[in-house]
Amino acid sequence: MRDMVGSDVKAIRGRLLSFVSEPAGPGDRSSYSYIDDGIVVVRDGRIEAAGEASQLLAGLPPGTTVDHHPDGLIVPGFIDTHIHFPQTQVIASYGAQLLEWLNKYTFVEEQRFADAAHAERNAVFFMDELLRNGTTTAVVYATVHPGSVEAFFAESERRGTGMIAGKVMMDRNAPPGLRDTARTGYDESRALIERWHGKGRQRYAVTPRFAITSTEEQLEAAGALNRENPGVYMQTHLSENLREIETVRQLFPDARHYTDVYDRYGLLGERSLFGHCIHLDDDEVRRLSDSKSVAVFCPTSNLFIGSGLFDLKRLSGGADPVRVSLATDVGGGTSYSMLRTAAEGYKVLQLGGQNLPALSAFHMMTRGNALALGMGGSIGTIEPGCFADLVVLDAKATPAMAHRMETIEGDLDEELFVLMTLGDDRAVRETYVQGQASK
Ligand code: GUN
Ligand code: ZN
Repeated sequence: MRDMVGSDVKAIRGRLLSFVSEPAGPGDRSSYSYIDDGIVVVRDGRIEAAGEASQLLAGLPPGTTVDHHPDGLIVPGFIDTHIHFPQTQVIASYGAQLLEWLNKYTFVEEQRFADAAHAERNAVFFMDELLRNGTTTAVVYATVHPGSVEAFFAESERRGTGMIAGKVMMDRNAPPGLRDTARTGYDESRALIERWHGKGRQRYAVTPRFAITSTEEQLEAAGALNRENPGVYMQTHLSENLREIETVRQLFPDARHYTDVYDRYGLLGERSLFGHCIHLDDDEVRRLSDSKSVAVFCPTSNLFIGSGLFDLKRLSGGADPVRVSLATDVGGGTSYSMLRTAAEGYKVLQLGGQNLPALSAFHMMTRGNALALGMGGSIGTIEPGCFADLVVLDAKATPAMAHRMETIEGDLDEELFVLMTLGDDRAVRETYVQGQASK
C-alpha cells in the first residue's frame, strides 16, 4: 500500500535468519540473528526495519499488507557468483571433460544467441529459473554477442533484480561465429559498460572467457577495460582442468603459471572472480591472496565435468587466505539451486577430509557471497537499507524432508542441514525481489 507520503510499504512475516559474521563452526550462535516470529518492513523495495513481530506490527501504517509465512524460514535471497545464461540447454550434456564439452556442446549452443529473439526467450526462462530457486543476484556470463547481454540486463531490469553480467570476449580457439577481435571485444564491452554498468541495479563484468580463447592482445584489452572503468567486475575461468592448464602453458610459454597469465594483464583484484581454482600451485594461491581476488567454488560443475576437488581449507584457511565464494556454474553445473550446490559442496569437501557446516553454507550463499562481490550492506543480509530480496524456505517441502524433520525439534543447524542436503526448488515457497513476490 502507499502511505501518506506516497511510498510503497508492505511487510513480510515469518522466521527470520540473517548472518552478522562468518560462522566459526557448527552451532556458532554469535554469527547470526534469528527471530522466531519476525517481520521485515519494506519501503520502496528496501528493508526499513526487521525485528520481532510483537514490536513492529503495531507501528505499521494502518492497512499495510502483511504476507505471513507461518513456519517459513525467511533468509536473504541467494547469490550465485558464477553462472552461464546461454547454457540452459547445455546443462546435462553427456560424457565429456572441459575442452571436449566446450567444443561439442557449449560452443554449438552459444552460437544460437546471435539471434536476439533466441536470447530474449532464454533470458526470460533463465530469470524464471533463478527466482524459482530463490536466487536474486547472480554473476552471469552471456555469449560473445552484445545482444545476449542486452537481452539479459533488460530482463533483469524488468524483474527488479540486481545482476552482474558481461559479454564473453573470445578471439581465438572458438568457432568463427563465436569470435570477436581484440578491437571489437573492447569496443562492444565498452559500449555495454556505458549502457548498463550502474543503470539501476545492474553492474558490468568484463568477461574474457579464459586464457585459451583470448590472444594476448585481447587480454590486454580486457585489462584496459578494467582500468578505465572503476567499479566494473572481472570474471574468467582459472585452473579448472589439467588439459586446460597444459594448453595454457603452451599458449603462454613466458608466464610463470596460469594465474600469472591474468596477472600480467592487470586482471587480478578485489572485483575479480576466478571460476574453479582447483589445481593451483602455492605461488598462484599467494598472488590471488595478495590481490584480494575471489576464487569461486563450483561443486556441481567440478563433479559433473570431472574437473577435480576444490580445496577450501587450503585456499581460505591457509597462510595466504584467498577470498572464496560459492556458485552453480550452470550448465557445467547441474542445478540452478544454491541448496543443491551447497549439498554437493559438502560432499566435495568430505572427499578432501573437510567439512561444510550448514551455518557456513547458508552464510556463503547469502552474506558471504555478497561480501565477495563488495555488496555487503546492499544485499545478502536482512538489515535496514538492504534491498528486500528474500527467500522463504520450507524444510518440510517434500515427504522425505517432512519425515526427517520429525526428528528435529527446534535445532536451527539441523534444519539448515536438512534444507541443504535434501532441498531444492521445491523448498522455496516464495522469492521476493525488492519486496515483491516473484517466484
Ligand atoms: N572454461 C571456459 N569456458 C567455460 C564454461 O563455459 N564452463 C566451464 N565450466 N568452464 C569453462
Ligand atoms: Zn563457468
